[in-house]
Amino acid sequence: MANDTLTIIDNRTNRSYTLPIEHGTIRSMDLRQIKTGPDDFGLMGYDPAFMNTASCHSRITFIDGDRGILRYRGYNIEDLAENCTFLEVAYLLLNGELPTPEQRQEWVKQVTFHTMVHEGTRSFISHFRHDAHPMGILVSALAALSTVYPEAKNISDPECRRMQIVRLIAKTPTLAAYSYRHSLGYPIVYPDNDLSYTENFMNMLWKMVEPKYVANPVMARALDVLFILHADHEQNCSANAMRSVGSSQADPYLSAAGAASALAGPLHGGANEAVLRMLDEIGDVRNVPEYVKRIKEGKGKLMGFGHRVYKNYDPRARIIKQTAEDVFKVTGRNPKLDIAIALERVALEDEYFISRKLYPNVDFYSGIIYQAMGFKPDMFTVLFAIPRMAGWLAQWQELLEDREQKIARPRQVYLGHELRKVEKPRQTERAFVTR
Ligand code: CMC
Repeated sequence: MANDTLTIIDNRTNRSYTLPIEHGTIRSMDLRQIKTGPDDFGLMGYDPAFMNTASCHSRITFIDGDRGILRYRGYNIEDLAENCTFLEVAYLLLNGELPTPEQRQEWVKQVTFHTMVHEGTRSFISHFRHDAHPMGILVSALAALSTVYPEAKNISDPECRRMQIVRLIAKTPTLAAYSYRHSLGYPIVYPDNDLSYTENFMNMLWKMVEPKYVANPVMARALDVLFILHADHEQNCSANAMRSVGSSQADPYLSAAGAASALAGPLHGGANEAVLRMLDEIGDVRNVPEYVKRIKEGKGKLMGFGHRVYKNYDPRARIIKQTAEDVFKVTGRNPKLDIAIALERVALEDEYFISRKLYPNVDFYSGIIYQAMGFKPDMFTVLFAIPRMAGWLAQWQELLEDREQKIARPRQVYLGHELRKVEKPRQTERAFVTR
């Protein structure tokens, strides 16, 4: 018998089955042959929240959560953050290799020339309430792009796919900036093709009456590094949403709107906003021990702590902490940093957090930097969505090129009623107003 197999004995029938093991996994469909009789559907795995189920083979991002390692296409995140721009990293995620100088030039040119959005989309954004959450606007605007580019549904045409990928990478910062300006009641600023990806984003956010926006280079680089750190994170909640919606062959705008919706929740990308609100609530370093005590009593979670995959310090959090120091040299120190550092120190020495392997994640420090840069907390998750678009699209493309993938459709274990009958007469339903 081959070594890379698993033998299972079904004690219900005393039958034994030998299943192949490949890449450390068995195929769940191989379990289906394990039956008690011809009417038995066959054995399934039960795995709420995919705690131990691989949904795909992927060559994009590697995480070793126990050792705190994150790599895109084989490159350590520290290496990429140090030596690359976000657009180079986006190219790497999407194409598998860093661009040559010629490829880089062409890629930057294409993205730069697609940053404008249709005036109808601009007008659409302007009709949201002034206090609409920018994530709600972004999700809606991404979905609305599907109506501007109906050809995007030709997902089996690689050239058509490439075009939509360029558009989504190029236009997401524009949509994000428009939603931000709208929430402030400011007129929108059109893209400026002279500027780099992050400089142009800053231009669309913050240009006022000056004839030409000049970005602070330290801030522009910090934002670029933050974008690199957030670009992909393998099969997280939003990547899984992108793949799940995309598996129905919806176009990439609709799929990306689904992914952005998943990102918006406080357990995922919304955590950076929640961290800031938590630090506000703590208010002072002196209140940290009392706050940690409450968390240990089960009264809430320490936002920005813990991760499904990392059971060690999140490598992105370490780089962000350094980036924060660079930003604070320009903006002045955000006083919330002291509360965050005190919170981290108390938590990392506490048995509750040690035994559960809870460490700061990417969101713990990012919000503090964003606030120092001048962003309101409700913009933080949008800042996560912009770079994550590259990861979502890389995951989407890999899905479409994977011949083993089909429409995503999990099974369930039905525990509801057996067959029963309606025991009342049918009635018509009519809404009316009585006066
Ligand atoms: N504060 C206090 N306790 C926690 C925390 C936390 N932040 N996270 C997990 N725990 C506890 C949890 O209560 C459980 O304890 P017990 O075993 O006594 O029931 C144990 O640790 C295991 O937690 P879990 O909920 O089973 O872990 P999970 O893998 O399902 O959840 C998580 C991962 C990220 C959703 C969770 O750690 C969390 O809610 N963290 C706070 C929100 C956050 O920072 N999210 C951003 C994640 S990183 C960026 C991203 O993915 O977008």
